[in-house]
Amino acid sequence: MCGIVAYIGHRQAKPILLEGLKRLEYRGYDSAGLAMLIDGKLKIGRTVGRVSMLEERLEQLGGFDGTLGLCHTRWATHGGVTELNAHPHRDDRHGLVVVHNGIIENYAALKTYLTERGHTFTSDTDTEVISMLISELYEGDLEKAVQAALREVTGAYAIAVICEKEPDTLVVARKGSPLLVGIGNGEYIVASDAAAIISHTGQAFMLDDYNVVKITRAGFRTSDIHNTPVTPKVTQLEIDLEQIELGGYPHFMLKEIFEQPKALRACCSGRMDIRDGRVVLGGVSTYAKELTRARRVILTAQGTALHAAMIGRYLLEDVAKVPTQTEYASEFRYRNPVIEEGTVVIAVSQSGETADTLAALKEAKERGALALGVINVVGSSIARETDAGVYLRVGPEIGVASTKAFTGQVAALSLLGLFMARRRLMSADACAEMLREFEALPAKIERILEQAPHVKRVTERYIDRENWLFLGRGYNYPTALEGALKLKEISYIHAEGMPAAEMKHGPIALINEGMPAVFIANKGRQYEKVMSNIAEVRSRGGHVIAVATEGDEHIKKYVQDVLYIPDVPEPLSPILAVIPLQLMAYYAAVARGHDVDKPRNLAKSVTVE
Ligand code: AGP
Ligand code: GLU
Repeated sequence: MCGIVAYIGHRQAKPILLEGLKRLEYRGYDSAGLAMLIDGKLKIGRTVGRVSMLEERLEQLGGFDGTLGLCHTRWATHGGVTELNAHPHRDDRHGLVVVHNGIIENYAALKTYLTERGHTFTSDTDTEVISMLISELYEGDLEKAVQAALREVTGAYAIAVICEKEPDTLVVARKGSPLLVGIGNGEYIVASDAAAIISHTGQAFMLDDYNVVKITRAGFRTSDIHNTPVTPKVTQLEIDLEQIELGGYPHFMLKEIFEQPKALRACCSGRMDIRDGRVVLGGVSTYAKELTRARRVILTAQGTALHAAMIGRYLLEDVAKVPTQTEYASEFRYRNPVIEEGTVVIAVSQSGETADTLAALKEAKERGALALGVINVVGSSIARETDAGVYLRVGPEIGVASTKAFTGQVAALSLLGLFMARRRLMSADACAEMLREFEALPAKIERILEQAPHVKRVTERYIDRENWLFLGRGYNYPTALEGALKLKEISYIHAEGMPAAEMKHGPIALINEGMPAVFIANKGRQYEKVMSNIAEVRSRGGHVIAVATEGDEHIKKYVQDVLYIPDVPEPLSPILAVIPLQLMAYYAAVARGHDVDKPRNLAKSVTVE
C-alpha cells in the first residue's frame, strides 16, 4: 500500500501535504514525491527514501508556494525503487499528474496501446499508464477524462489527479484501495487514511469503489465512473491526535505494546455482562440466531491476523463447540472452497484493507456464507463488505509490526466465541467465570510489562544468533507463530514457529550449540509434554528461553532463561504469552539498529495482491 495526501483550499498546501504524508509514512516508504499547481504551472519534487528526504529536496528546488497539490509515499509493486518510478507521474501532453495506491492489472496492454498512440513513458511503473490514459482521453474536462480512463483499467486504485489546464480542480477516485475526503472550511484534504486529515477536520467521507470526486474550492461533486451522481455518507472521524502521536515513546511499536492494557479494556468495555453471565455484541446481535445455529465457521486472514484467527479457532471449537477452520485468505480465494448451508465466514483484519482478505470474504459471501468482520479500522473496505462484525476498538495502530491489534483480535474473537457458546451450550455461571478472568487480563499484562527490562537483558544475550525457533502447543502454537513473525519482520533474524511436537519431525536437525529456542511453557494441559520438548532441545545444545507461569520454580533448572507471566486459564493465555515475545522482537530490532516502525520491504497493510 502507499500513502496519498491531496489538498485544495485557501492555505499553503505544502506544509499540510508534508505533515499528512509523515502520518501516512508507515503505509509504505520506498520513495516520496509531491506536485503543486502554481500560477497554472506544475511543480514536482520526488526522491527515493523517506518523507524527510523529500522535504530536503523541496527546499533545494524551492518555489512550492501554492494552495493546490498532492503527494505520495510509495510501496513499490511495479518498477524498482528509483526516482523515475517515484510518484507523482506526469503525462506528456496536458500537464497533468497522478498519484496512485494499488495495482493496474492490465497496465501492460494499456502501455502498448498508449505507446502506439505516441505517448512516451519514462518509468517502469503500472501507475504511469493512468496518467497517460487520462491524457489520451482528455478533451478539456478532467473529471470526464478520469472517468473514461477508469472505465478501461482493471485492478485496484486510489488516485488523485491535478492538471495545469484546470487550476481549480482536484479529481480523486477509488476502487479497492482506501481514500477519504476531509471537508474543511473552504478547503478539502484527501488522504489514504484519517490520520492525515484529523488535525484539520473531523468531517469526512470514505469513497466507495468506482466513486469519482471532482473537488474545487467552491465544493465537490461525487459520481461513479459512468458519471452517475452518487451521494457520499459524511461522518465524524473517530480518532484523535493523541492516538496517532508518539507520546514520548521512541517508537510507535513500543507505545502500542504498552497500550495493550488500555486497549484491551476498550475492546471489552460494555461487552461483558458478568452479573448475567453473557457477552453483549451489538455489532452481531442481528445475526444471533444464525450464529447460534452455525454449522461451520471459517476464519480467514493474513499474517498476524491469521495467527489471532488460529487462536480463535481453538476457542470456538473448545468453548462454543462449533466446527471451525482457518484459511490463508490468499489461498482460500482461489481454491474453489466448499461453503455449506449454515457457514459463517469471519474476516480478521487490523486495517480492513488487506486485498486478499477482502477478496476471500467476497468469495465466501457470494457462495452464501454469512460474512462477519473482526476489524480495527471503522468504515474500512472489509468492514463495509461484511454483514456484521466486531470492531477491535484498540485505537489506530501505526507500527508496521502489529501488537495491540493482535491481542485485540484474540480478545474480540474470544468474546465472539463466548457470545456463541452462551447461546449454544455454555451456562451463565461458566460464562461469568470466564468473563471475570477476561476482566483481570489488563492488570496481568501490566505485571508482564513491568518485566520489560528483564526481557531486554535476556534478548540482548541472543541478538547475534541468526536462527531462532519458537515452539508452543495447543492455544499457544499460534502464539509461537506470532512470536516468530514479530522477530523476523523487524529484526530480520530468521525465525520459525511450529507446534512443539512437530520439532521431532525434522526441524530438530537444525538445533546446534547455542541456538535459541523460545518455548511457551505456561501451566496448561500439555505442560509436561512441553517440558519433554525442552529437554530434547537442551540435550542437543540448544539454548531455551521459556515463557512460564509465575511461581514455576521447577522450570528454571531446565532452561537458560525464564520470562514469567501470571497464571491464566489456557484459552486466554495467548493474550499474556505474546507480550514477552513482542518485547523480545522490539528489543532485538533496536539492538540491531533497525527502524522498528518502518521495517525494510514492509508496509502496514497489503492492499495489493
Ligand atoms: C503484522 O505484524 C504484519 N505487519 C502483517 O502480517 C499483518 O498482520 C498482515 O498484513 C494483515 O494485516 P491486516 O490485519 O491489516 O489485515
Ligand atoms: N503500483 C504502484 C507502483 O508500484 C503503486 C504502489 C503503491 O501502492 O504504493 O508504483
